[in-house]
Amino acid sequence: MEKKEVAKTSEAEIAVHWKEEELFYPSTKFIAQANLTDEFVYDRFSLDNFPECFKEYADLLDWYKYWDTTLDTSDAPCWKWFVGGKINACYNCVDRHLEKNKNKAAIHWVPEPENERIQHLTYQELYVRINEFAALLRDFAGLKAGDRVTLHMPMVPELPITMLACARLGIIHSEVFGGFSGKACADRIVDSGSNVLITIDGYYRGGKLLDHKANADIAVEQAEKEGQTVDKVLVWQRYPGKNSSPTPMVDGRDYFVNDLLKDYRGKRIDPVPMPAEAPLFLMYTSGTTGKPKGCQHSTGGFLAYVAGTSKYIQDIHPEDVYWCMADIGWITGHSYIVYGPLALCASSVIFEGVPTYPDAGRAWRIAEELDVNIFHTAPTTIRALRKVGPDEPAKYNYHFKHMTTVGEPIEPEVWKWYHEVVGKGEAVIVDTWWQTENGGFLCSTVPALRAMKPGSAGPGVPGIHPIIYDDDGNEIKAGTGKAGNICIQNPWPGQFQTIWGDRDRYVSTYFEKYCKDKNSKNWRDWPYLAGDAAMLSKDGYFRILGRIDDVINVSGHRLGTKELESASLDVVEVAEAAVVPVADEIKGMVPDLYVSLRPGYDPSPELAAKISQSLCDSIGKIARPRKVWIVPDMPKTRSGKIMRRVLAAISNDKDVGDTTTLANPDIVDEIHKMSQDMIEELKESKKALMKE
Ligand code: WT7
Repeated sequence: MEKKEVAKTSEAEIAVHWKEEELFYPSTKFIAQANLTDEFVYDRFSLDNFPECFKEYADLLDWYKYWDTTLDTSDAPCWKWFVGGKINACYNCVDRHLEKNKNKAAIHWVPEPENERIQHLTYQELYVRINEFAALLRDFAGLKAGDRVTLHMPMVPELPITMLACARLGIIHSEVFGGFSGKACADRIVDSGSNVLITIDGYYRGGKLLDHKANADIAVEQAEKEGQTVDKVLVWQRYPGKNSSPTPMVDGRDYFVNDLLKDYRGKRIDPVPMPAEAPLFLMYTSGTTGKPKGCQHSTGGFLAYVAGTSKYIQDIHPEDVYWCMADIGWITGHSYIVYGPLALCASSVIFEGVPTYPDAGRAWRIAEELDVNIFHTAPTTIRALRKVGPDEPAKYNYHFKHMTTVGEPIEPEVWKWYHEVVGKGEAVIVDTWWQTENGGFLCSTVPALRAMKPGSAGPGVPGIHPIIYDDDGNEIKAGTGKAGNICIQNPWPGQFQTIWGDRDRYVSTYFEKYCKDKNSKNWRDWPYLAGDAAMLSKDGYFRILGRIDDVINVSGHRLGTKELESASLDVVEVAEAAVVPVADEIKGMVPDLYVSLRPGYDPSPELAAKISQSLCDSIGKIARPRKVWIVPDMPKTRSGKIMRRVLAAISNDKDVGDTTTLANPDIVDEIHKMSQDMIEELKESKKALMKE
């Protein structure tokens, strides 16, 4: 083993051509007010002090009973944190703030139609509404601690109210992203075994009042077919007291929450002290294959971890106005719109609509009106905002001290626009790498302690100890310029406990590959496999290259799709780029490049050639795309991820499969048509290409 030349043979080895980016430093003004400026934090959270270091996060919370075991590994790798402790998540996010801050805004809710004013819910109001709804859940719906309930709700205040009412009673909530279909909702109802569905009649999206109740009917019908009966559907109303959906209510099954609530006015329900390791919620992640995985998150560990990282990485202070533009239907929203910020008594902004609707200035008007100073979004949104309104932010008088990017690797070009234009050169940026499974951030700079590097998430956050392995389990060290599989060496409190109902899948997906001894109860033997490719530079910063599968093998040379995409974004005309592999009899695979343009630019063969050349210049000839497709838009999921699978099918002349879950299914036909027209042309040029 020792003698083997790992560098040449490893399958996990991915050629990396990124150039090192220059560093950006936080301002002294930011540092002066930051929650964490103490360099010793990395010592406090070192592996030597593991797991007790996480007491620091747990102590941000109020416990009914302190725990006796910080980390219980007896059921490895299903870790249990703070065992013996009793806690309630709702109490920690609401009740405990009342004494000093009952009149402070907990939630600023921004409806999409601009003629509807922003609603401000104080902590007192949130407390009252949660209590009344909790009474209804208990006494009308008959729900109790440990039951699962499925929520299929959009970005309205009733969503956190519902989640926190569940948490108050120890009911396990399972929120399904509002934009998902009734069928997707049904699968999650069945998997979680919910017999109550909580939904809303309608909501606004891109200027339309959508009929959301219709999805509930589909979901319940489909769940029934799959063997799960839903006996109550609780329907919130977008406009209380008024029905906004044309879909009829089913007698004896569907109930308007606002009608029922009349019986629960003024009711108060004591929070139920829950064991720290009791599940707080399920969050399903789709994955590319197989049925969705219900990530089971704990109460004490999860809440401690999101409170700690909200404080140290998001730098949230109670006086901040914090806007995370993600959807609460994703883990980002659970951790960093609802639980983390509210545990810290912050004011959290919830926006119903689309950030680019009705125009490119919408997001910045909201920031200006609410005087938002912490802003959190994803590269896909940043690219969209840059595409439609590259100069918009300067027109509005807002000032961010802190910004986050999350969800996929950010191209340095896009990062720099975010920094200069959105952040006006004033805001620090944290690039937070993590996953639905993880509860909270894994890699990120601590904003006042470490410089920013465009395109790199940074080191592990305090208490997280990442390591990169090649496929044979050899460590790939810092500064070697090689990429491999990023793993986390240690458990942490925010980590999911298991896949709901499928412990075997939990073990095989995340631990099997690098587990040193399957019978071991020692956490050191169970590194967590994230499934992402990454590289580590000399200074200890991790650059995430994307999912391990997003690698294209050209003539035995493994290229990360993300670096090809990033290189094409160096061309000013390009707004978005997606690279997919095309089977090639000579080279194995070759990349096909799809790009959409920024406004004001037109597609032309010259432009396509320029983009192609740019890839060759920055990466090498090996990266020359078979074809540069200039398309009007990318096919995207509703969470904004580009559907490379669909593009790959088109490029390889295969069936595109089910596209109904896309945000813009029509674009697929359009691109398909383009590709048909070009097939002849490609056949012509093929000979020329093969010569290279
Ligand atoms: C995957 C997880 C966690 C919240 C949102 C996504 C990619 C996430 C980053 C980042 C590079 C990132 C990874 C990861 N990813 N954040 N800052 N830089 N890649 O949650 O849907 O569970 O997706 O998103 O590939 O594995 P998710």
